[in-house]
Amino acid sequence: MHTEQIVRTFVEYFEERGHRRITGSTLLPPPGDPVLFTTSGMHPLTPYLEGRPHPLGRRLVNVQRCLRTTDLDEVGDDTHLTVFEMLGTWSLGDYEGPQSLDWGYRLLTEGLGVDPGLLHATVHGGDDRTCPDDASLRVWQDLGVPVELTEGDNWWDNGPVGPCGPDSEIFLWSGDTPPRSTPTRDDRWVEVWNHVMMRHRRLDDGSLVPLPQRNIDTGLGLERLTSLLQGKSSVYECDVFEPWRRLVPALWPLDEQSLRLVQDHLRSAVVILGDGVRPANTGRGYVLRRLVRRVLTVLWRDDPSRELGDLPEELVLHTLDHFRQDMGPGDVRRLLVEEERRFSRLLERGRQVLARPRFQGPLYDEDFHYLHDTHGLPRDLVMSLRQDRRERRESR
Ligand code: ALA
Repeated sequence: MHTEQIVRTFVEYFEERGHRRITGSTLLPPPGDPVLFTTSGMHPLTPYLEGRPHPLGRRLVNVQRCLRTTDLDEVGDDTHLTVFEMLGTWSLGDYEGPQSLDWGYRLLTEGLGVDPGLLHATVHGGDDRTCPDDASLRVWQDLGVPVELTEGDNWWDNGPVGPCGPDSEIFLWSGDTPPRSTPTRDDRWVEVWNHVMMRHRRLDDGSLVPLPQRNIDTGLGLERLTSLLQGKSSVYECDVFEPWRRLVPALWPLDEQSLRLVQDHLRSAVVILGDGVRPANTGRGYVLRRLVRRVLTVLWRDDPSRELGDLPEELVLHTLDHFRQDMGPGDVRRLLVEEERRFSRLLERGRQVLARPRFQGPLYDEDFHYLHDTHGLPRDLVMSLRQDRRERRESR
């Protein structure tokens, strides 16, 4: 199944069950929201989960692009992307967890053709403040899906305060052998769909109070599910990455790990630019800047003559189209190239400054402050330039 077909099947399935499709938001949360980027489909819906009536009713479905930088070090493995799409469903004080899980199971098995024998579920096993989620446990037992009760893994929140609750996660077996073990013990169980029973709010002091209504918030990772349904071993091999896999290795021969990082970060940079963010030294712009710099660091490690201006327009266009963004691909490339120049100049200055005798020994906080405030050199960049210097000296 092609990605678009999976999205259509998902949305139609829930529309047939009374859900109204809402338009996904951009990566930028509404003003006043404390987070930098939308990290989950529920994010733009926070006021409605907290009780405000939604104009389209109590059952919603959508596709939301999300950005997560908490997993940055995991980018390059088989399942984590910085920007990904989440298929989401919500019950705003309408049906409860068992209904949601039952539909989830039936959509996966009957609608999308997943072999029921490849599924595993996890359920909140209770803690000092909340009871075990017996209702979800019973659903999985009745459906004959193996289920694991966990201690801390089945609780979802979007930050230290705000709506939260126990969740039940659905995993799909990705191994070559018949399924074995359980999700917490074998990472060939890949989490695809999280169903959160969002009925609490966490306050500043850490305590939990009931929300005015008992909600359900679910999120299914589109690229993960797609790659598994397409029989691929990583998200980078599903159809949304097809042009990247075709064009990038020919342009920049890289090992698999670096190739994945470059594809992920460049694709994310295009989407972030497409949503109107510009490189900066703080906030969202700094996230964008870091992604581009990580790409350049990898590209220039083997060959400093590589240039982002060589990035095929087809890749930029494909990404903008996929995320339905209307920025021109030429503008995206121009901004990437400008950022590349800025980074190149910064590196040059950094090398010169760090060659001074003062910076040959160990560096202290005051040195880092000086390098940052006077020369615009962030700590991580200083560290990596010094590392480069050491390696170059050792290889001489
Ligand atoms: N909000 C839940 C998640 O992102 C569904 O996993």
